[in-house]
Amino acid sequence: MRKSLVILFAMISAVMLMAIACGSDEADPNATATPAPPNTVPAEQRAAEPTAVPATKAPAASGAGGALTVAAEGETLTFDTASLSATSGSEVTITFDNPSAINSHNLVIVKDGTKDQVATDGTTAGPDANWVAPGDDRVIANTVVLSPGASGEVTFTAPAPGTYQFVCTFPGHNATMFGDFTVN
Ligand code: CU
Repeated sequence: MRKSLVILFAMISAVMLMAIACGSDEADPNATATPAPPNTVPAEQRAAEPTAVPATKAPAASGAGGALTVAAEGETLTFDTASLSATSGSEVTITFDNPSAINSHNLVIVKDGTKDQVATDGTTAGPDANWVAPGDDRVIANTVVLSPGASGEVTFTAPAPGTYQFVCTFPGHNATMFGDFTVN
């Protein structure tokens, strides 16, 4: 009788030990499984960020002053954009590319509504003046005349908020080669 009781106690305690061991084994997978989802969620968020950041940077770079680029559109005597914008008081650099094979161009920032008068006076001033009358107070800034295939840039401080124009004052180009320069 005593031996069977001892064996019974031994079996019971063995089962209890196994139950405890199993209980702790089950707790471990839960402990390691819980941190796993948080690790994968931030990874997905990080993966999504790089595609979102360049998408928002591109419009900001072209709309908030700083570095702007514009080009002549082939041989059509137009610019490849109808509008540029900048922030008042900021230093603006406009890079102007002239991919034309035959036409020379310049880019002149002028007060709103004055592009044709500025071009007419520029024609009088002649090519040595880059087709811009010296001291013309309607002119905010201008590039030199760019030969076919050339590129150049002009840097200036964006003037008071308002609407201005950019125009090519090479004789005959101002009728079609212009756009709005908006200062915010
Ligand atoms: Cu032109």
